[in-house]
Order: sequence, then C-alpha cells, then structure tokens
Amino acid sequence: MKIGTAAKGWPVGLVCVAAVALSLALTVDAVKREDFKTCEQSAFCLRHRQFAEAVAGASKPAGIVGGAASGQPASQYSVVPGTVHLDGHTLVALVEQKEDRVPLKFEVSFLAGGSIRLRAQEETPLFPRFDDTQKHTLRGEGRDLPYAPPESLRLTSGTVNGVAVHTVNVTGAADAFSVRVAEQPWSLTYLRNDKPVIQLNSKGFFKFEQLRKCPDGDTPTDGEWEETFRTWTDSKPRGPESFGLDISFVGFEHVYGIPEHASPLSLKPTRGDKDGYDQPYRLYNLDVFEYELDNPMALYGSIPLMLAHSAEATVGVLWLNAAETWVDVTHERSSAISNLFRRSGGAGREPSVSTHWISESGVMDVFLFPGPTVADTYQQYAAIVEQTALPRDFALGYHQSRWNYLDEEDVLTINDKMHEHGIPYDVIWLDIEHTDGKRYFTWDGQKFPDPAGLQGQLGRDGHQLVTIVDPHVKRDTSYRIWSEANERGYFIKARDGSSAFQGWCWPGDSSWVDCFDSEAAAWFSEQYHMDKYNGSTRNLFIWNDMNEPSVFNGPEITLDKDAQHHGGWEHRNVHNLYGMLYHKASADGLRTRESPNLRPFVLSRAYFAGSQRYGPIWTGDNTADWAHLRASVPMVLSNNIAGMHFSGADVGGFFGNPDETLLTRWYQLGIWYPFFRAHAHIDTKRREPWLLGEPYLTHIRDAVRERYRLLPYWYTLFREAGLTGMPIMRPMWIEFPAEKGLFAEDKAFMVGQAIMVVPVTDSDAAQPVDVAFPAQENWYNMRTHDMYMGPARRQFSVGLGDTLVFARGGSIVPTRERNRRSAVLMRRDPFTLYVYVGRAGTAAGRLYVDDGESYEYEDGAFIERELSFANATLVSRPSARTTASAAQAAFAKSMERVRIERVVVVGLRNPLTRATVRAGGEERTIEVSYSGSRADAECVVRDPAVPVGSDWEIALS
Ligand code: NOJ
Repeated sequence: MKIGTAAKGWPVGLVCVAAVALSLALTVDAVKREDFKTCEQSAFCLRHRQFAEAVAGASKPAGIVGGAASGQPASQYSVVPGTVHLDGHTLVALVEQKEDRVPLKFEVSFLAGGSIRLRAQEETPLFPRFDDTQKHTLRGEGRDLPYAPPESLRLTSGTVNGVAVHTVNVTGAADAFSVRVAEQPWSLTYLRNDKPVIQLNSKGFFKFEQLRKCPDGDTPTDGEWEETFRTWTDSKPRGPESFGLDISFVGFEHVYGIPEHASPLSLKPTRGDKDGYDQPYRLYNLDVFEYELDNPMALYGSIPLMLAHSAEATVGVLWLNAAETWVDVTHERSSAISNLFRRSGGAGREPSVSTHWISESGVMDVFLFPGPTVADTYQQYAAIVEQTALPRDFALGYHQSRWNYLDEEDVLTINDKMHEHGIPYDVIWLDIEHTDGKRYFTWDGQKFPDPAGLQGQLGRDGHQLVTIVDPHVKRDTSYRIWSEANERGYFIKARDGSSAFQGWCWPGDSSWVDCFDSEAAAWFSEQYHMDKYNGSTRNLFIWNDMNEPSVFNGPEITLDKDAQHHGGWEHRNVHNLYGMLYHKASADGLRTRESPNLRPFVLSRAYFAGSQRYGPIWTGDNTADWAHLRASVPMVLSNNIAGMHFSGADVGGFFGNPDETLLTRWYQLGIWYPFFRAHAHIDTKRREPWLLGEPYLTHIRDAVRERYRLLPYWYTLFREAGLTGMPIMRPMWIEFPAEKGLFAEDKAFMVGQAIMVVPVTDSDAAQPVDVAFPAQENWYNMRTHDMYMGPARRQFSVGLGDTLVFARGGSIVPTRERNRRSAVLMRRDPFTLYVYVGRAGTAAGRLYVDDGESYEYEDGAFIERELSFANATLVSRPSARTTASAAQAAFAKSMERVRIERVVVVGLRNPLTRATVRAGGEERTIEVSYSGSRADAECVVRDPAVPVGSDWEIALS
C-alpha cells in the first residue's frame, strides 16, 4: 500500500507518515490515475507509438522504405548487404537506418529445442548498454544456454519477389523449422513446416535510438535529454536509448501473459479497437494504491513473457528487458501476409495478433519459443529460465494474516481459535506494526517481549510465524541495520552517484539497500541469520513488501530513474529487477541460516521473470468486492502463464469489509490459488472465520479442509511445475487446446490436469451458475461424485455451501484425509487415492512425496509414483525420475509405514465386489464397499495396506 498523491509534497519533517496513509485508506475509491504516467507522458513511449502510427499510416517519417504501395512494410532499417553470415550457432547481420548509417549488430542464436534468440545493439556503442538482465534471469547467468550444434544449421541466400533473403534451416528437430531474414527492409520470420508463425518487424515498427552525445547548446524538448512528470525531473544523463519492435503471431487470435495487470486473461487490443484499451500494457513495477480493474496500467510485478495460442499451436516470446516497457496489442482479423510468404493457392490473409514492444533502455534481447504444444513452449522457456522452486510443505497450507496481529496474546488467541474451530492453518503473519518503529529485524518489545517463545508455542502444532521485512531502511544512527549499511556504502545512491538516496516510506526518511552490489546483497542476506535477527528461530519466515520499490515521495511512488546502482547503472535500467534481487537476497538468507540448508519461504510483492526461483508473490492491495474476487482469477492465471506459479490474491480483499457471503465465496475460491492467504487492511473489521458465525464458519472450514485434503496433489503439481514450467493454476485452453470456445475463458480454470474449478462469483444465490464441461469426457463433482458428460453446458443452483469443483474423468488424485492442525503434522499420514474413471475406462495420475523441507530430494530422496488404472486394475510404479541412490533408499525407509489407506474408484460402469491386492510377492483379497450419492458411484477399497513407496496392484473383480 502507499499513500498516493497525499504522500507527495509533504513538508520535510512531517513525521506521521503511517497515520496519513491509514486515514486515506479508509475510503475505498478509485486509483489516482494522475500519479502514474500514460504512454503520452512517458517520452520514449510516445516517440515509438507516434513512429508506429506514422509507419502504419500515410505520413511517413523521412527515410522510410517500403510501405503499402510497394507491397512491403514500411521501415527505416535494412540489412547491410554482404554482412549476413553464420558464426557457430549464431546468424550475424548488420542493420542500419537509411539516414544514420550507424550499424547495429544483430545476432540470431539458435537454441536446442527450436527456440531462437535475437540480440541487437550498436556494433560499436558509444558506451555500454545495460546487459545484466540476462545475468539475473537466465540459467547459468546466461552463459551456458543450450545452443543448437552449428552443424545442424544451414544458411542459404537468394531473392524472393525481388527482396534479398537469407534462410537458416535447422535440421534434426521433429518439425522442420527455419528462420528467414529479409534485407530491405529487414524482417525476421520464424517458419515451422514452411509456414510463418512469428514475424519480427513485418510492420516496420522497429526503431532503435542510438547512443549519442547531447547536442551542444539547445536542449531538445521532446524528453530525450530531460523529462518532467508533475514535480519530478528525470535528468537523463545518457540521453535517449530506447528501442521498439513489432512481433506478430501469424494465425493466432489470442495472446496471454505479460503480468501484472488487472485485465482479462486473453489480452485485449490496445490500439484500433473500440472495445479495447487506449493505452499499451505497461510493465513497470509500481505500488498502485486502490488499483482499478480492467486496465492495462502497471502493477507491482512485470514478466515480459507472452504466449500466443491457436487451435493448431502455442508459441511464446520473452522480451528480456528490465527497464520500463510498454506493449501494444492489435488484433488483425485478416492481416496481409507479406509477399515473401504467400503460398500458391492460399488466400494470403490470416488472422493475427500483432504486438509492439517498447523499452526505455538496455540491449534488445528477445527469445522466441516455437512450441508447438503448450508443454513444448514451457519446456523451451524452462530450458533457459529456472522454474518454480519446490516450496516447503507448510507453504501450501493456509496462511492467516492481517495488518496487524497486535501482540503475542493476540497471535496465541488466533492459534487457539483455529484449533478450537477445527480449521487447519500453517502460518500466522505479522505486518509492519510488530517492529520497533518500522525498523525491520526488530520487535516492539512491549507487544512482543518473547518472540522466540511465541514461535516455540506455535511450533508445537507445526505452525510457523512470518514477519515482514521491507526494503526501506529507516535513517537512524541508533539502528544497526542503517548504520552498518551506511558505513559500508551499501545503499542505492542519489543521482550524484555518491550520497545515499533518501526517500519516504513507512518509517519516514529512509534509504534502500542496493542488491545489485553483490557484497551488499550478501550482507543483507546475513541479517536473516539467527545470530543476527534477534528473536528469530527456524520457525520464522519472511514477507518482503514494498519492493517495487515503493517510495512515497518519488515519481510514480517509486525511485527516481536517475538514482544510481552499483557499477554506475541508473535505476532506469534495472527498475523491474530490483524487487526480484531483494527477494533473492532474503531467500538466500533464510536458506543459509542453517546447515544443512533448508528451503526458504519468502513472499514478495514485486517480481520479474525468474522470481519463481525465490518464492511466492501475491496480487497486492485488492478490494473486498465481487469484482475483485472475479478479477483475481485472470490475474493469478496470467502469473501462472508467465511462470510465476506460486501466486495468489488476498482472500477476503485487502481494503474494505467483505460481507459474510463474499468472504465465504472468497475462501471457496482462495483454496484453489497456489498461494492461499487471507489478509486485510489495518482499518478493516476483524474477519477470522469463527467471527462470521454459522453457517459461514462451517462452509469456510469445509473449504480450508478441502485444501488440506488435496495437499499431496498440490505438492505433486509444484514438483512438476519446477521441472517442466507447466502452470499449476491453468486456463482452460491449456488442457483443452483445440476448444476455441475456451480460449478467452477466465472464470473457470483448471488446477493441474485433473480438477476444474468454477468459482461462484456472484452475491445473488438465486443466480444459477453456468458450467461448460469440455471434451468427450466424464466430469465428477468432487464432493457428491455426481457425473456429467462433456461436451455439455449445465446450469447449477448453488447454495452457500455448494461449490462447483469437478474431477476430470481419466485422472487419479492423491489425498490425505485426516484432519490435522497443520500440513507439517500430516507428514506421516496415510494416503487415499481417488480414481476418476474416464470415458475409456482408464485413469492416470502421479504422486510426489519428500521430506517437505530439505534439499535432499535433489539427491533422490523422494518417492514419485506413476499411478494408472486400466482393466479395473490400479497399478503403482516408480516414475522414470526415480533413481536408486543412498538418499532414495533412506527416504523410502523413513516412509515404510506410510501406506495407502483407501482407494476410491469413482464412475465404474459395473459394480465390482472384490479387490485382489498384489504387493511384495504376496496376494490378498479384500471386500470392497459402495458408497456415494448413487449406488454405483463409488467403489471403496478400505485399507489395502500397501506402502506408498512400493510397487503394488489392486485388481477389482
Ligand atoms: C502494503 C501491502 O500490500 C499490504 O499487504 C500490507 O498490509 C501493507 N503494505 C502494510 O505493510
């Protein structure tokens, strides 16, 4: 949260920052749009958008070649003839603008798996452009990416319709793919099986502002060398260095991703469409107070990853840049394909989505992922960016937060009440008020006299405590963190490059640790060690908030762009990385506080591509209304699409007071967010579940227990996500990629492959809810086991206790069914397997189990089972990833007594009465029973007593 306009222009010396913020927060109204720039107010964005308009329209800036009349796109840039050549796995070319004739070096690198990477910058730059985004984001800091073997590339040159073109064919891949570079104007087309899929600069919007010296004398007025927004002036010492490029997805009608925006899942057009937005999507991490829905404004995080999907293919683009970035989206129902690719007999017109990416600074660095399946696309992304870190088991449980739990007694009362009401939970959260005057790593001694004792008490039932640590450091000579960082010069510097940057945040006058200085980051990580962080124990975990960073009196509530980081880099270059590096430093600190290391848990608000390696994020300060409940679904889905799988929204809504119905419905939805936390603003009424009374309490308890029951399924999904990059919370189209009717669906969603959730998002209980059951498949209501056959649409009346959650026929879902107080207490509990029989009479699933906290799984200390059901027989076998090792054997031994205590087969056509259990060379027969809402709905095998980690079969007859 932040204070918005009121924060600005405060007289220096105004002390009660927080009090002002709080009173403002009482009224929930609209975002202060005037606090944030539009594209027109961001000089480089305006320059590129105007340029694009000129290129697309009649009035062309001087020097443009091509254009509508010539049948070629208009562009100012062409390949310098004779410069195109292959150098190892990279195609190199020089490109120059007709007027300037200062060459840009283009490098198109080919990766194993079919991805390509295009990098461009001046051949001989006047001074270096910032190029460390790759270091902080890519695997191995970008040094050892899996490039294609040079011998798999073949370059041919020729002319097509009078234009010189160079084509690289890649051999050895399953699909024939090639990259074609046209010379004049330059364009790059990615073809699969000779069909254009992704085109760069086919619209001619490429524009690259070359590094230059400030012209003497006159100061240009279009914001190139200085720019003012409201009362702030950006000094722009390096002048303009932005660039823009159009990327078109040929044959696609939907694009997704580029979070974070409070907008629909399928990205709306931002130009030329009356139903779209009139501003581009903005990627610039910002603390937006009371953010507005259905809006392309920037929010707390930025991931420049976009996917395009059609019934035929999925492809992706990663625009690897951490500076302020804007993305225009245009839908072209029937766009002309350039002459270069028109195939004989074809109409030459296809729908496409065209995007225009504009970044303020840095090197142009773009990855194209050719798919063609969703899983392929994520595999290609995962090959270059590490995916979600496997969380601690408790992190998938329920998190109980509010700003603030007042003192130790308050925390313990919450803990007792949770137990009394049978609501499992894992973590209680402490917001900023727990500190001594917003000095992080300290405690308010009156309210928290014995924090270690408190953690000990919570720990008895496996619960954890989270405290908040924000990046602003109170400027106070008596505060150790400030003095140490100050003495060592670890703070971000002001524009002068020498004094520490100063700004306002919760504690008043503050400075910010510069995590781009590896020494400063290492020092900061150490502050989390138990010998430094007084009162912390191994049961304490962390929440990083305000790390966009939020600066109450800064331009757009953040740091000045000309503030300086380690190495002399201006903040403008690194802005969208800052939050991630801060998050990383915190996670590193927790990870290394014990030996052997344990997995950390740190929640962050700001994020970038790669943040998934460090911990979850949440969607910030939402509002307690139905519209925000609805909007949370596409927001969390978009994060998942962009690889930020571990994310969720504040259950209940941060601002305002939800009524009982809204809060109940929000819990029923929130249990399906990968990160499940209830949180509320300090001025809201208390809303812990038992305060609602009946019947709400029962419904909320049921919902939370459903989350806990399914923890084995969730944990398995997280493991998969970490390895494959596949989203956890998935838009419907990911599971049903050919069903066009689902491409824009952003109410219903899937959790993994097996569970479809249709949240109730309306206050009116009389309003029936529409459910579309996709595919030729059976769907089973997860509570009643009533079956529905897809494809079909049905309407359901839903009482407050009813939820619309369906298991997909053909899947096997592992659960743990004993009610416990926390996830940690479930570690030795037996499993129940649900087999949801598919239309073909079969089903499949997976179960992953490890110790829930250490890194021993990296040495093989896990159990991973492939479960399959066919011919009325359920079989458990080790997964291909299971390999024999000492660690594996030790873990398997520790799990010897953990068994499958029940198997429930749902949807058997013929009632079967006996189960033959084969395990360990022995065979036993047990009776089976039927239960459920219909006599033949469920076949229950009680206690087959097979250990979870061993091979077994259960045959029904
Ligand atoms: C802003 C965060 O978004 C919110 O969750 C938190 O409660 C406040 N800051 C106070 O720390």
